Amino acid sequence: MIAPQAAVAAPLVTHLPSIPYVRPATPADDTFVEELHAIAFGPGRFARTAFRVRERFPIDESLSLIAEVDGVPCGAVWMTPVSVGGVNGYLLGPLATDPGFRKRGAGKLLAREVTAHALARGEGQFVLLIGDQDYYCPLGWQPTVKGAIGFPGPVDYDRVLVFTHDETLATTLAGPIAAFR
Ligand SMILES: CC(C)(COP(=O)(O)OP(=O)(O)OC[C@H]1O[C@@H](n2cnc3c(N)ncnc32)[C@H](O)[C@@H]1OP(=O)(O)O)[C@@H](O)C(=O)NCCC(=O)NCCS
Repeated sequence: MIAPQAAVAAPLVTHLPSIPYVRPATPADDTFVEELHAIAFGPGRFARTAFRVRERFPIDESLSLIAEVDGVPCGAVWMTPVSVGGVNGYLLGPLATDPGFRKRGAGKLLAREVTAHALARGEGQFVLLIGDQDYYCPLGWQPTVKGAIGFPGPVDYDRVLVFTHDETLATTLAGPIAAFR
């Protein structure tokens, strides 16, 4: 008698999503970034207060980063050098990840990397942004003093957050946003 063949189990295939990494942006990324901003922020993006800051003070293109997964661009971040009360720093943003690549760590990686790159230059002491505390505070951003920093438009001060290695700056940073000196 021939023994019945044991059922052969199908090979177990585990497909883990690839991990994002970052690289400097180049002019070839301009179309991707423009389309990403349109998807992430919509037509209202041009009226945002952070956009008005970037209209007055140019971004530092050498700090623009792109996140990629397997060679496919999936996120971007910009930095605008500014000063507040005579202290030089940066305004982070826009930060956006393509909806098809979210929750893989690209957004936090971009925020952390661009901040580390900028502060490592030793020319600025803080990285300011307008964003959700739940997202940024676990990464080291802290609330600022409500009303202390003057923006060229309306802003929810609960969302004005700062990252700094100076232990006192979150409570002392005050004044209108001005040019990086
Ligand atoms: C916010 C954004 C950049 C996050 O990008 P991402 O690549 O998905 O971010 P990460 O993968 O690093 O982090 C995802 C985690 O943050 C959480 N998260 C996303 N947005 C959040 C927010 N506004 N507040 C709190 N948590 C948030 C997600 O739920 C997820 O949680 P999980 O890890 O427990 O699943 C992306 O959702 C986006 O582009 N949004 C539209 C533009 C925008 O709002 N930009 C930020 C302006 S300050």
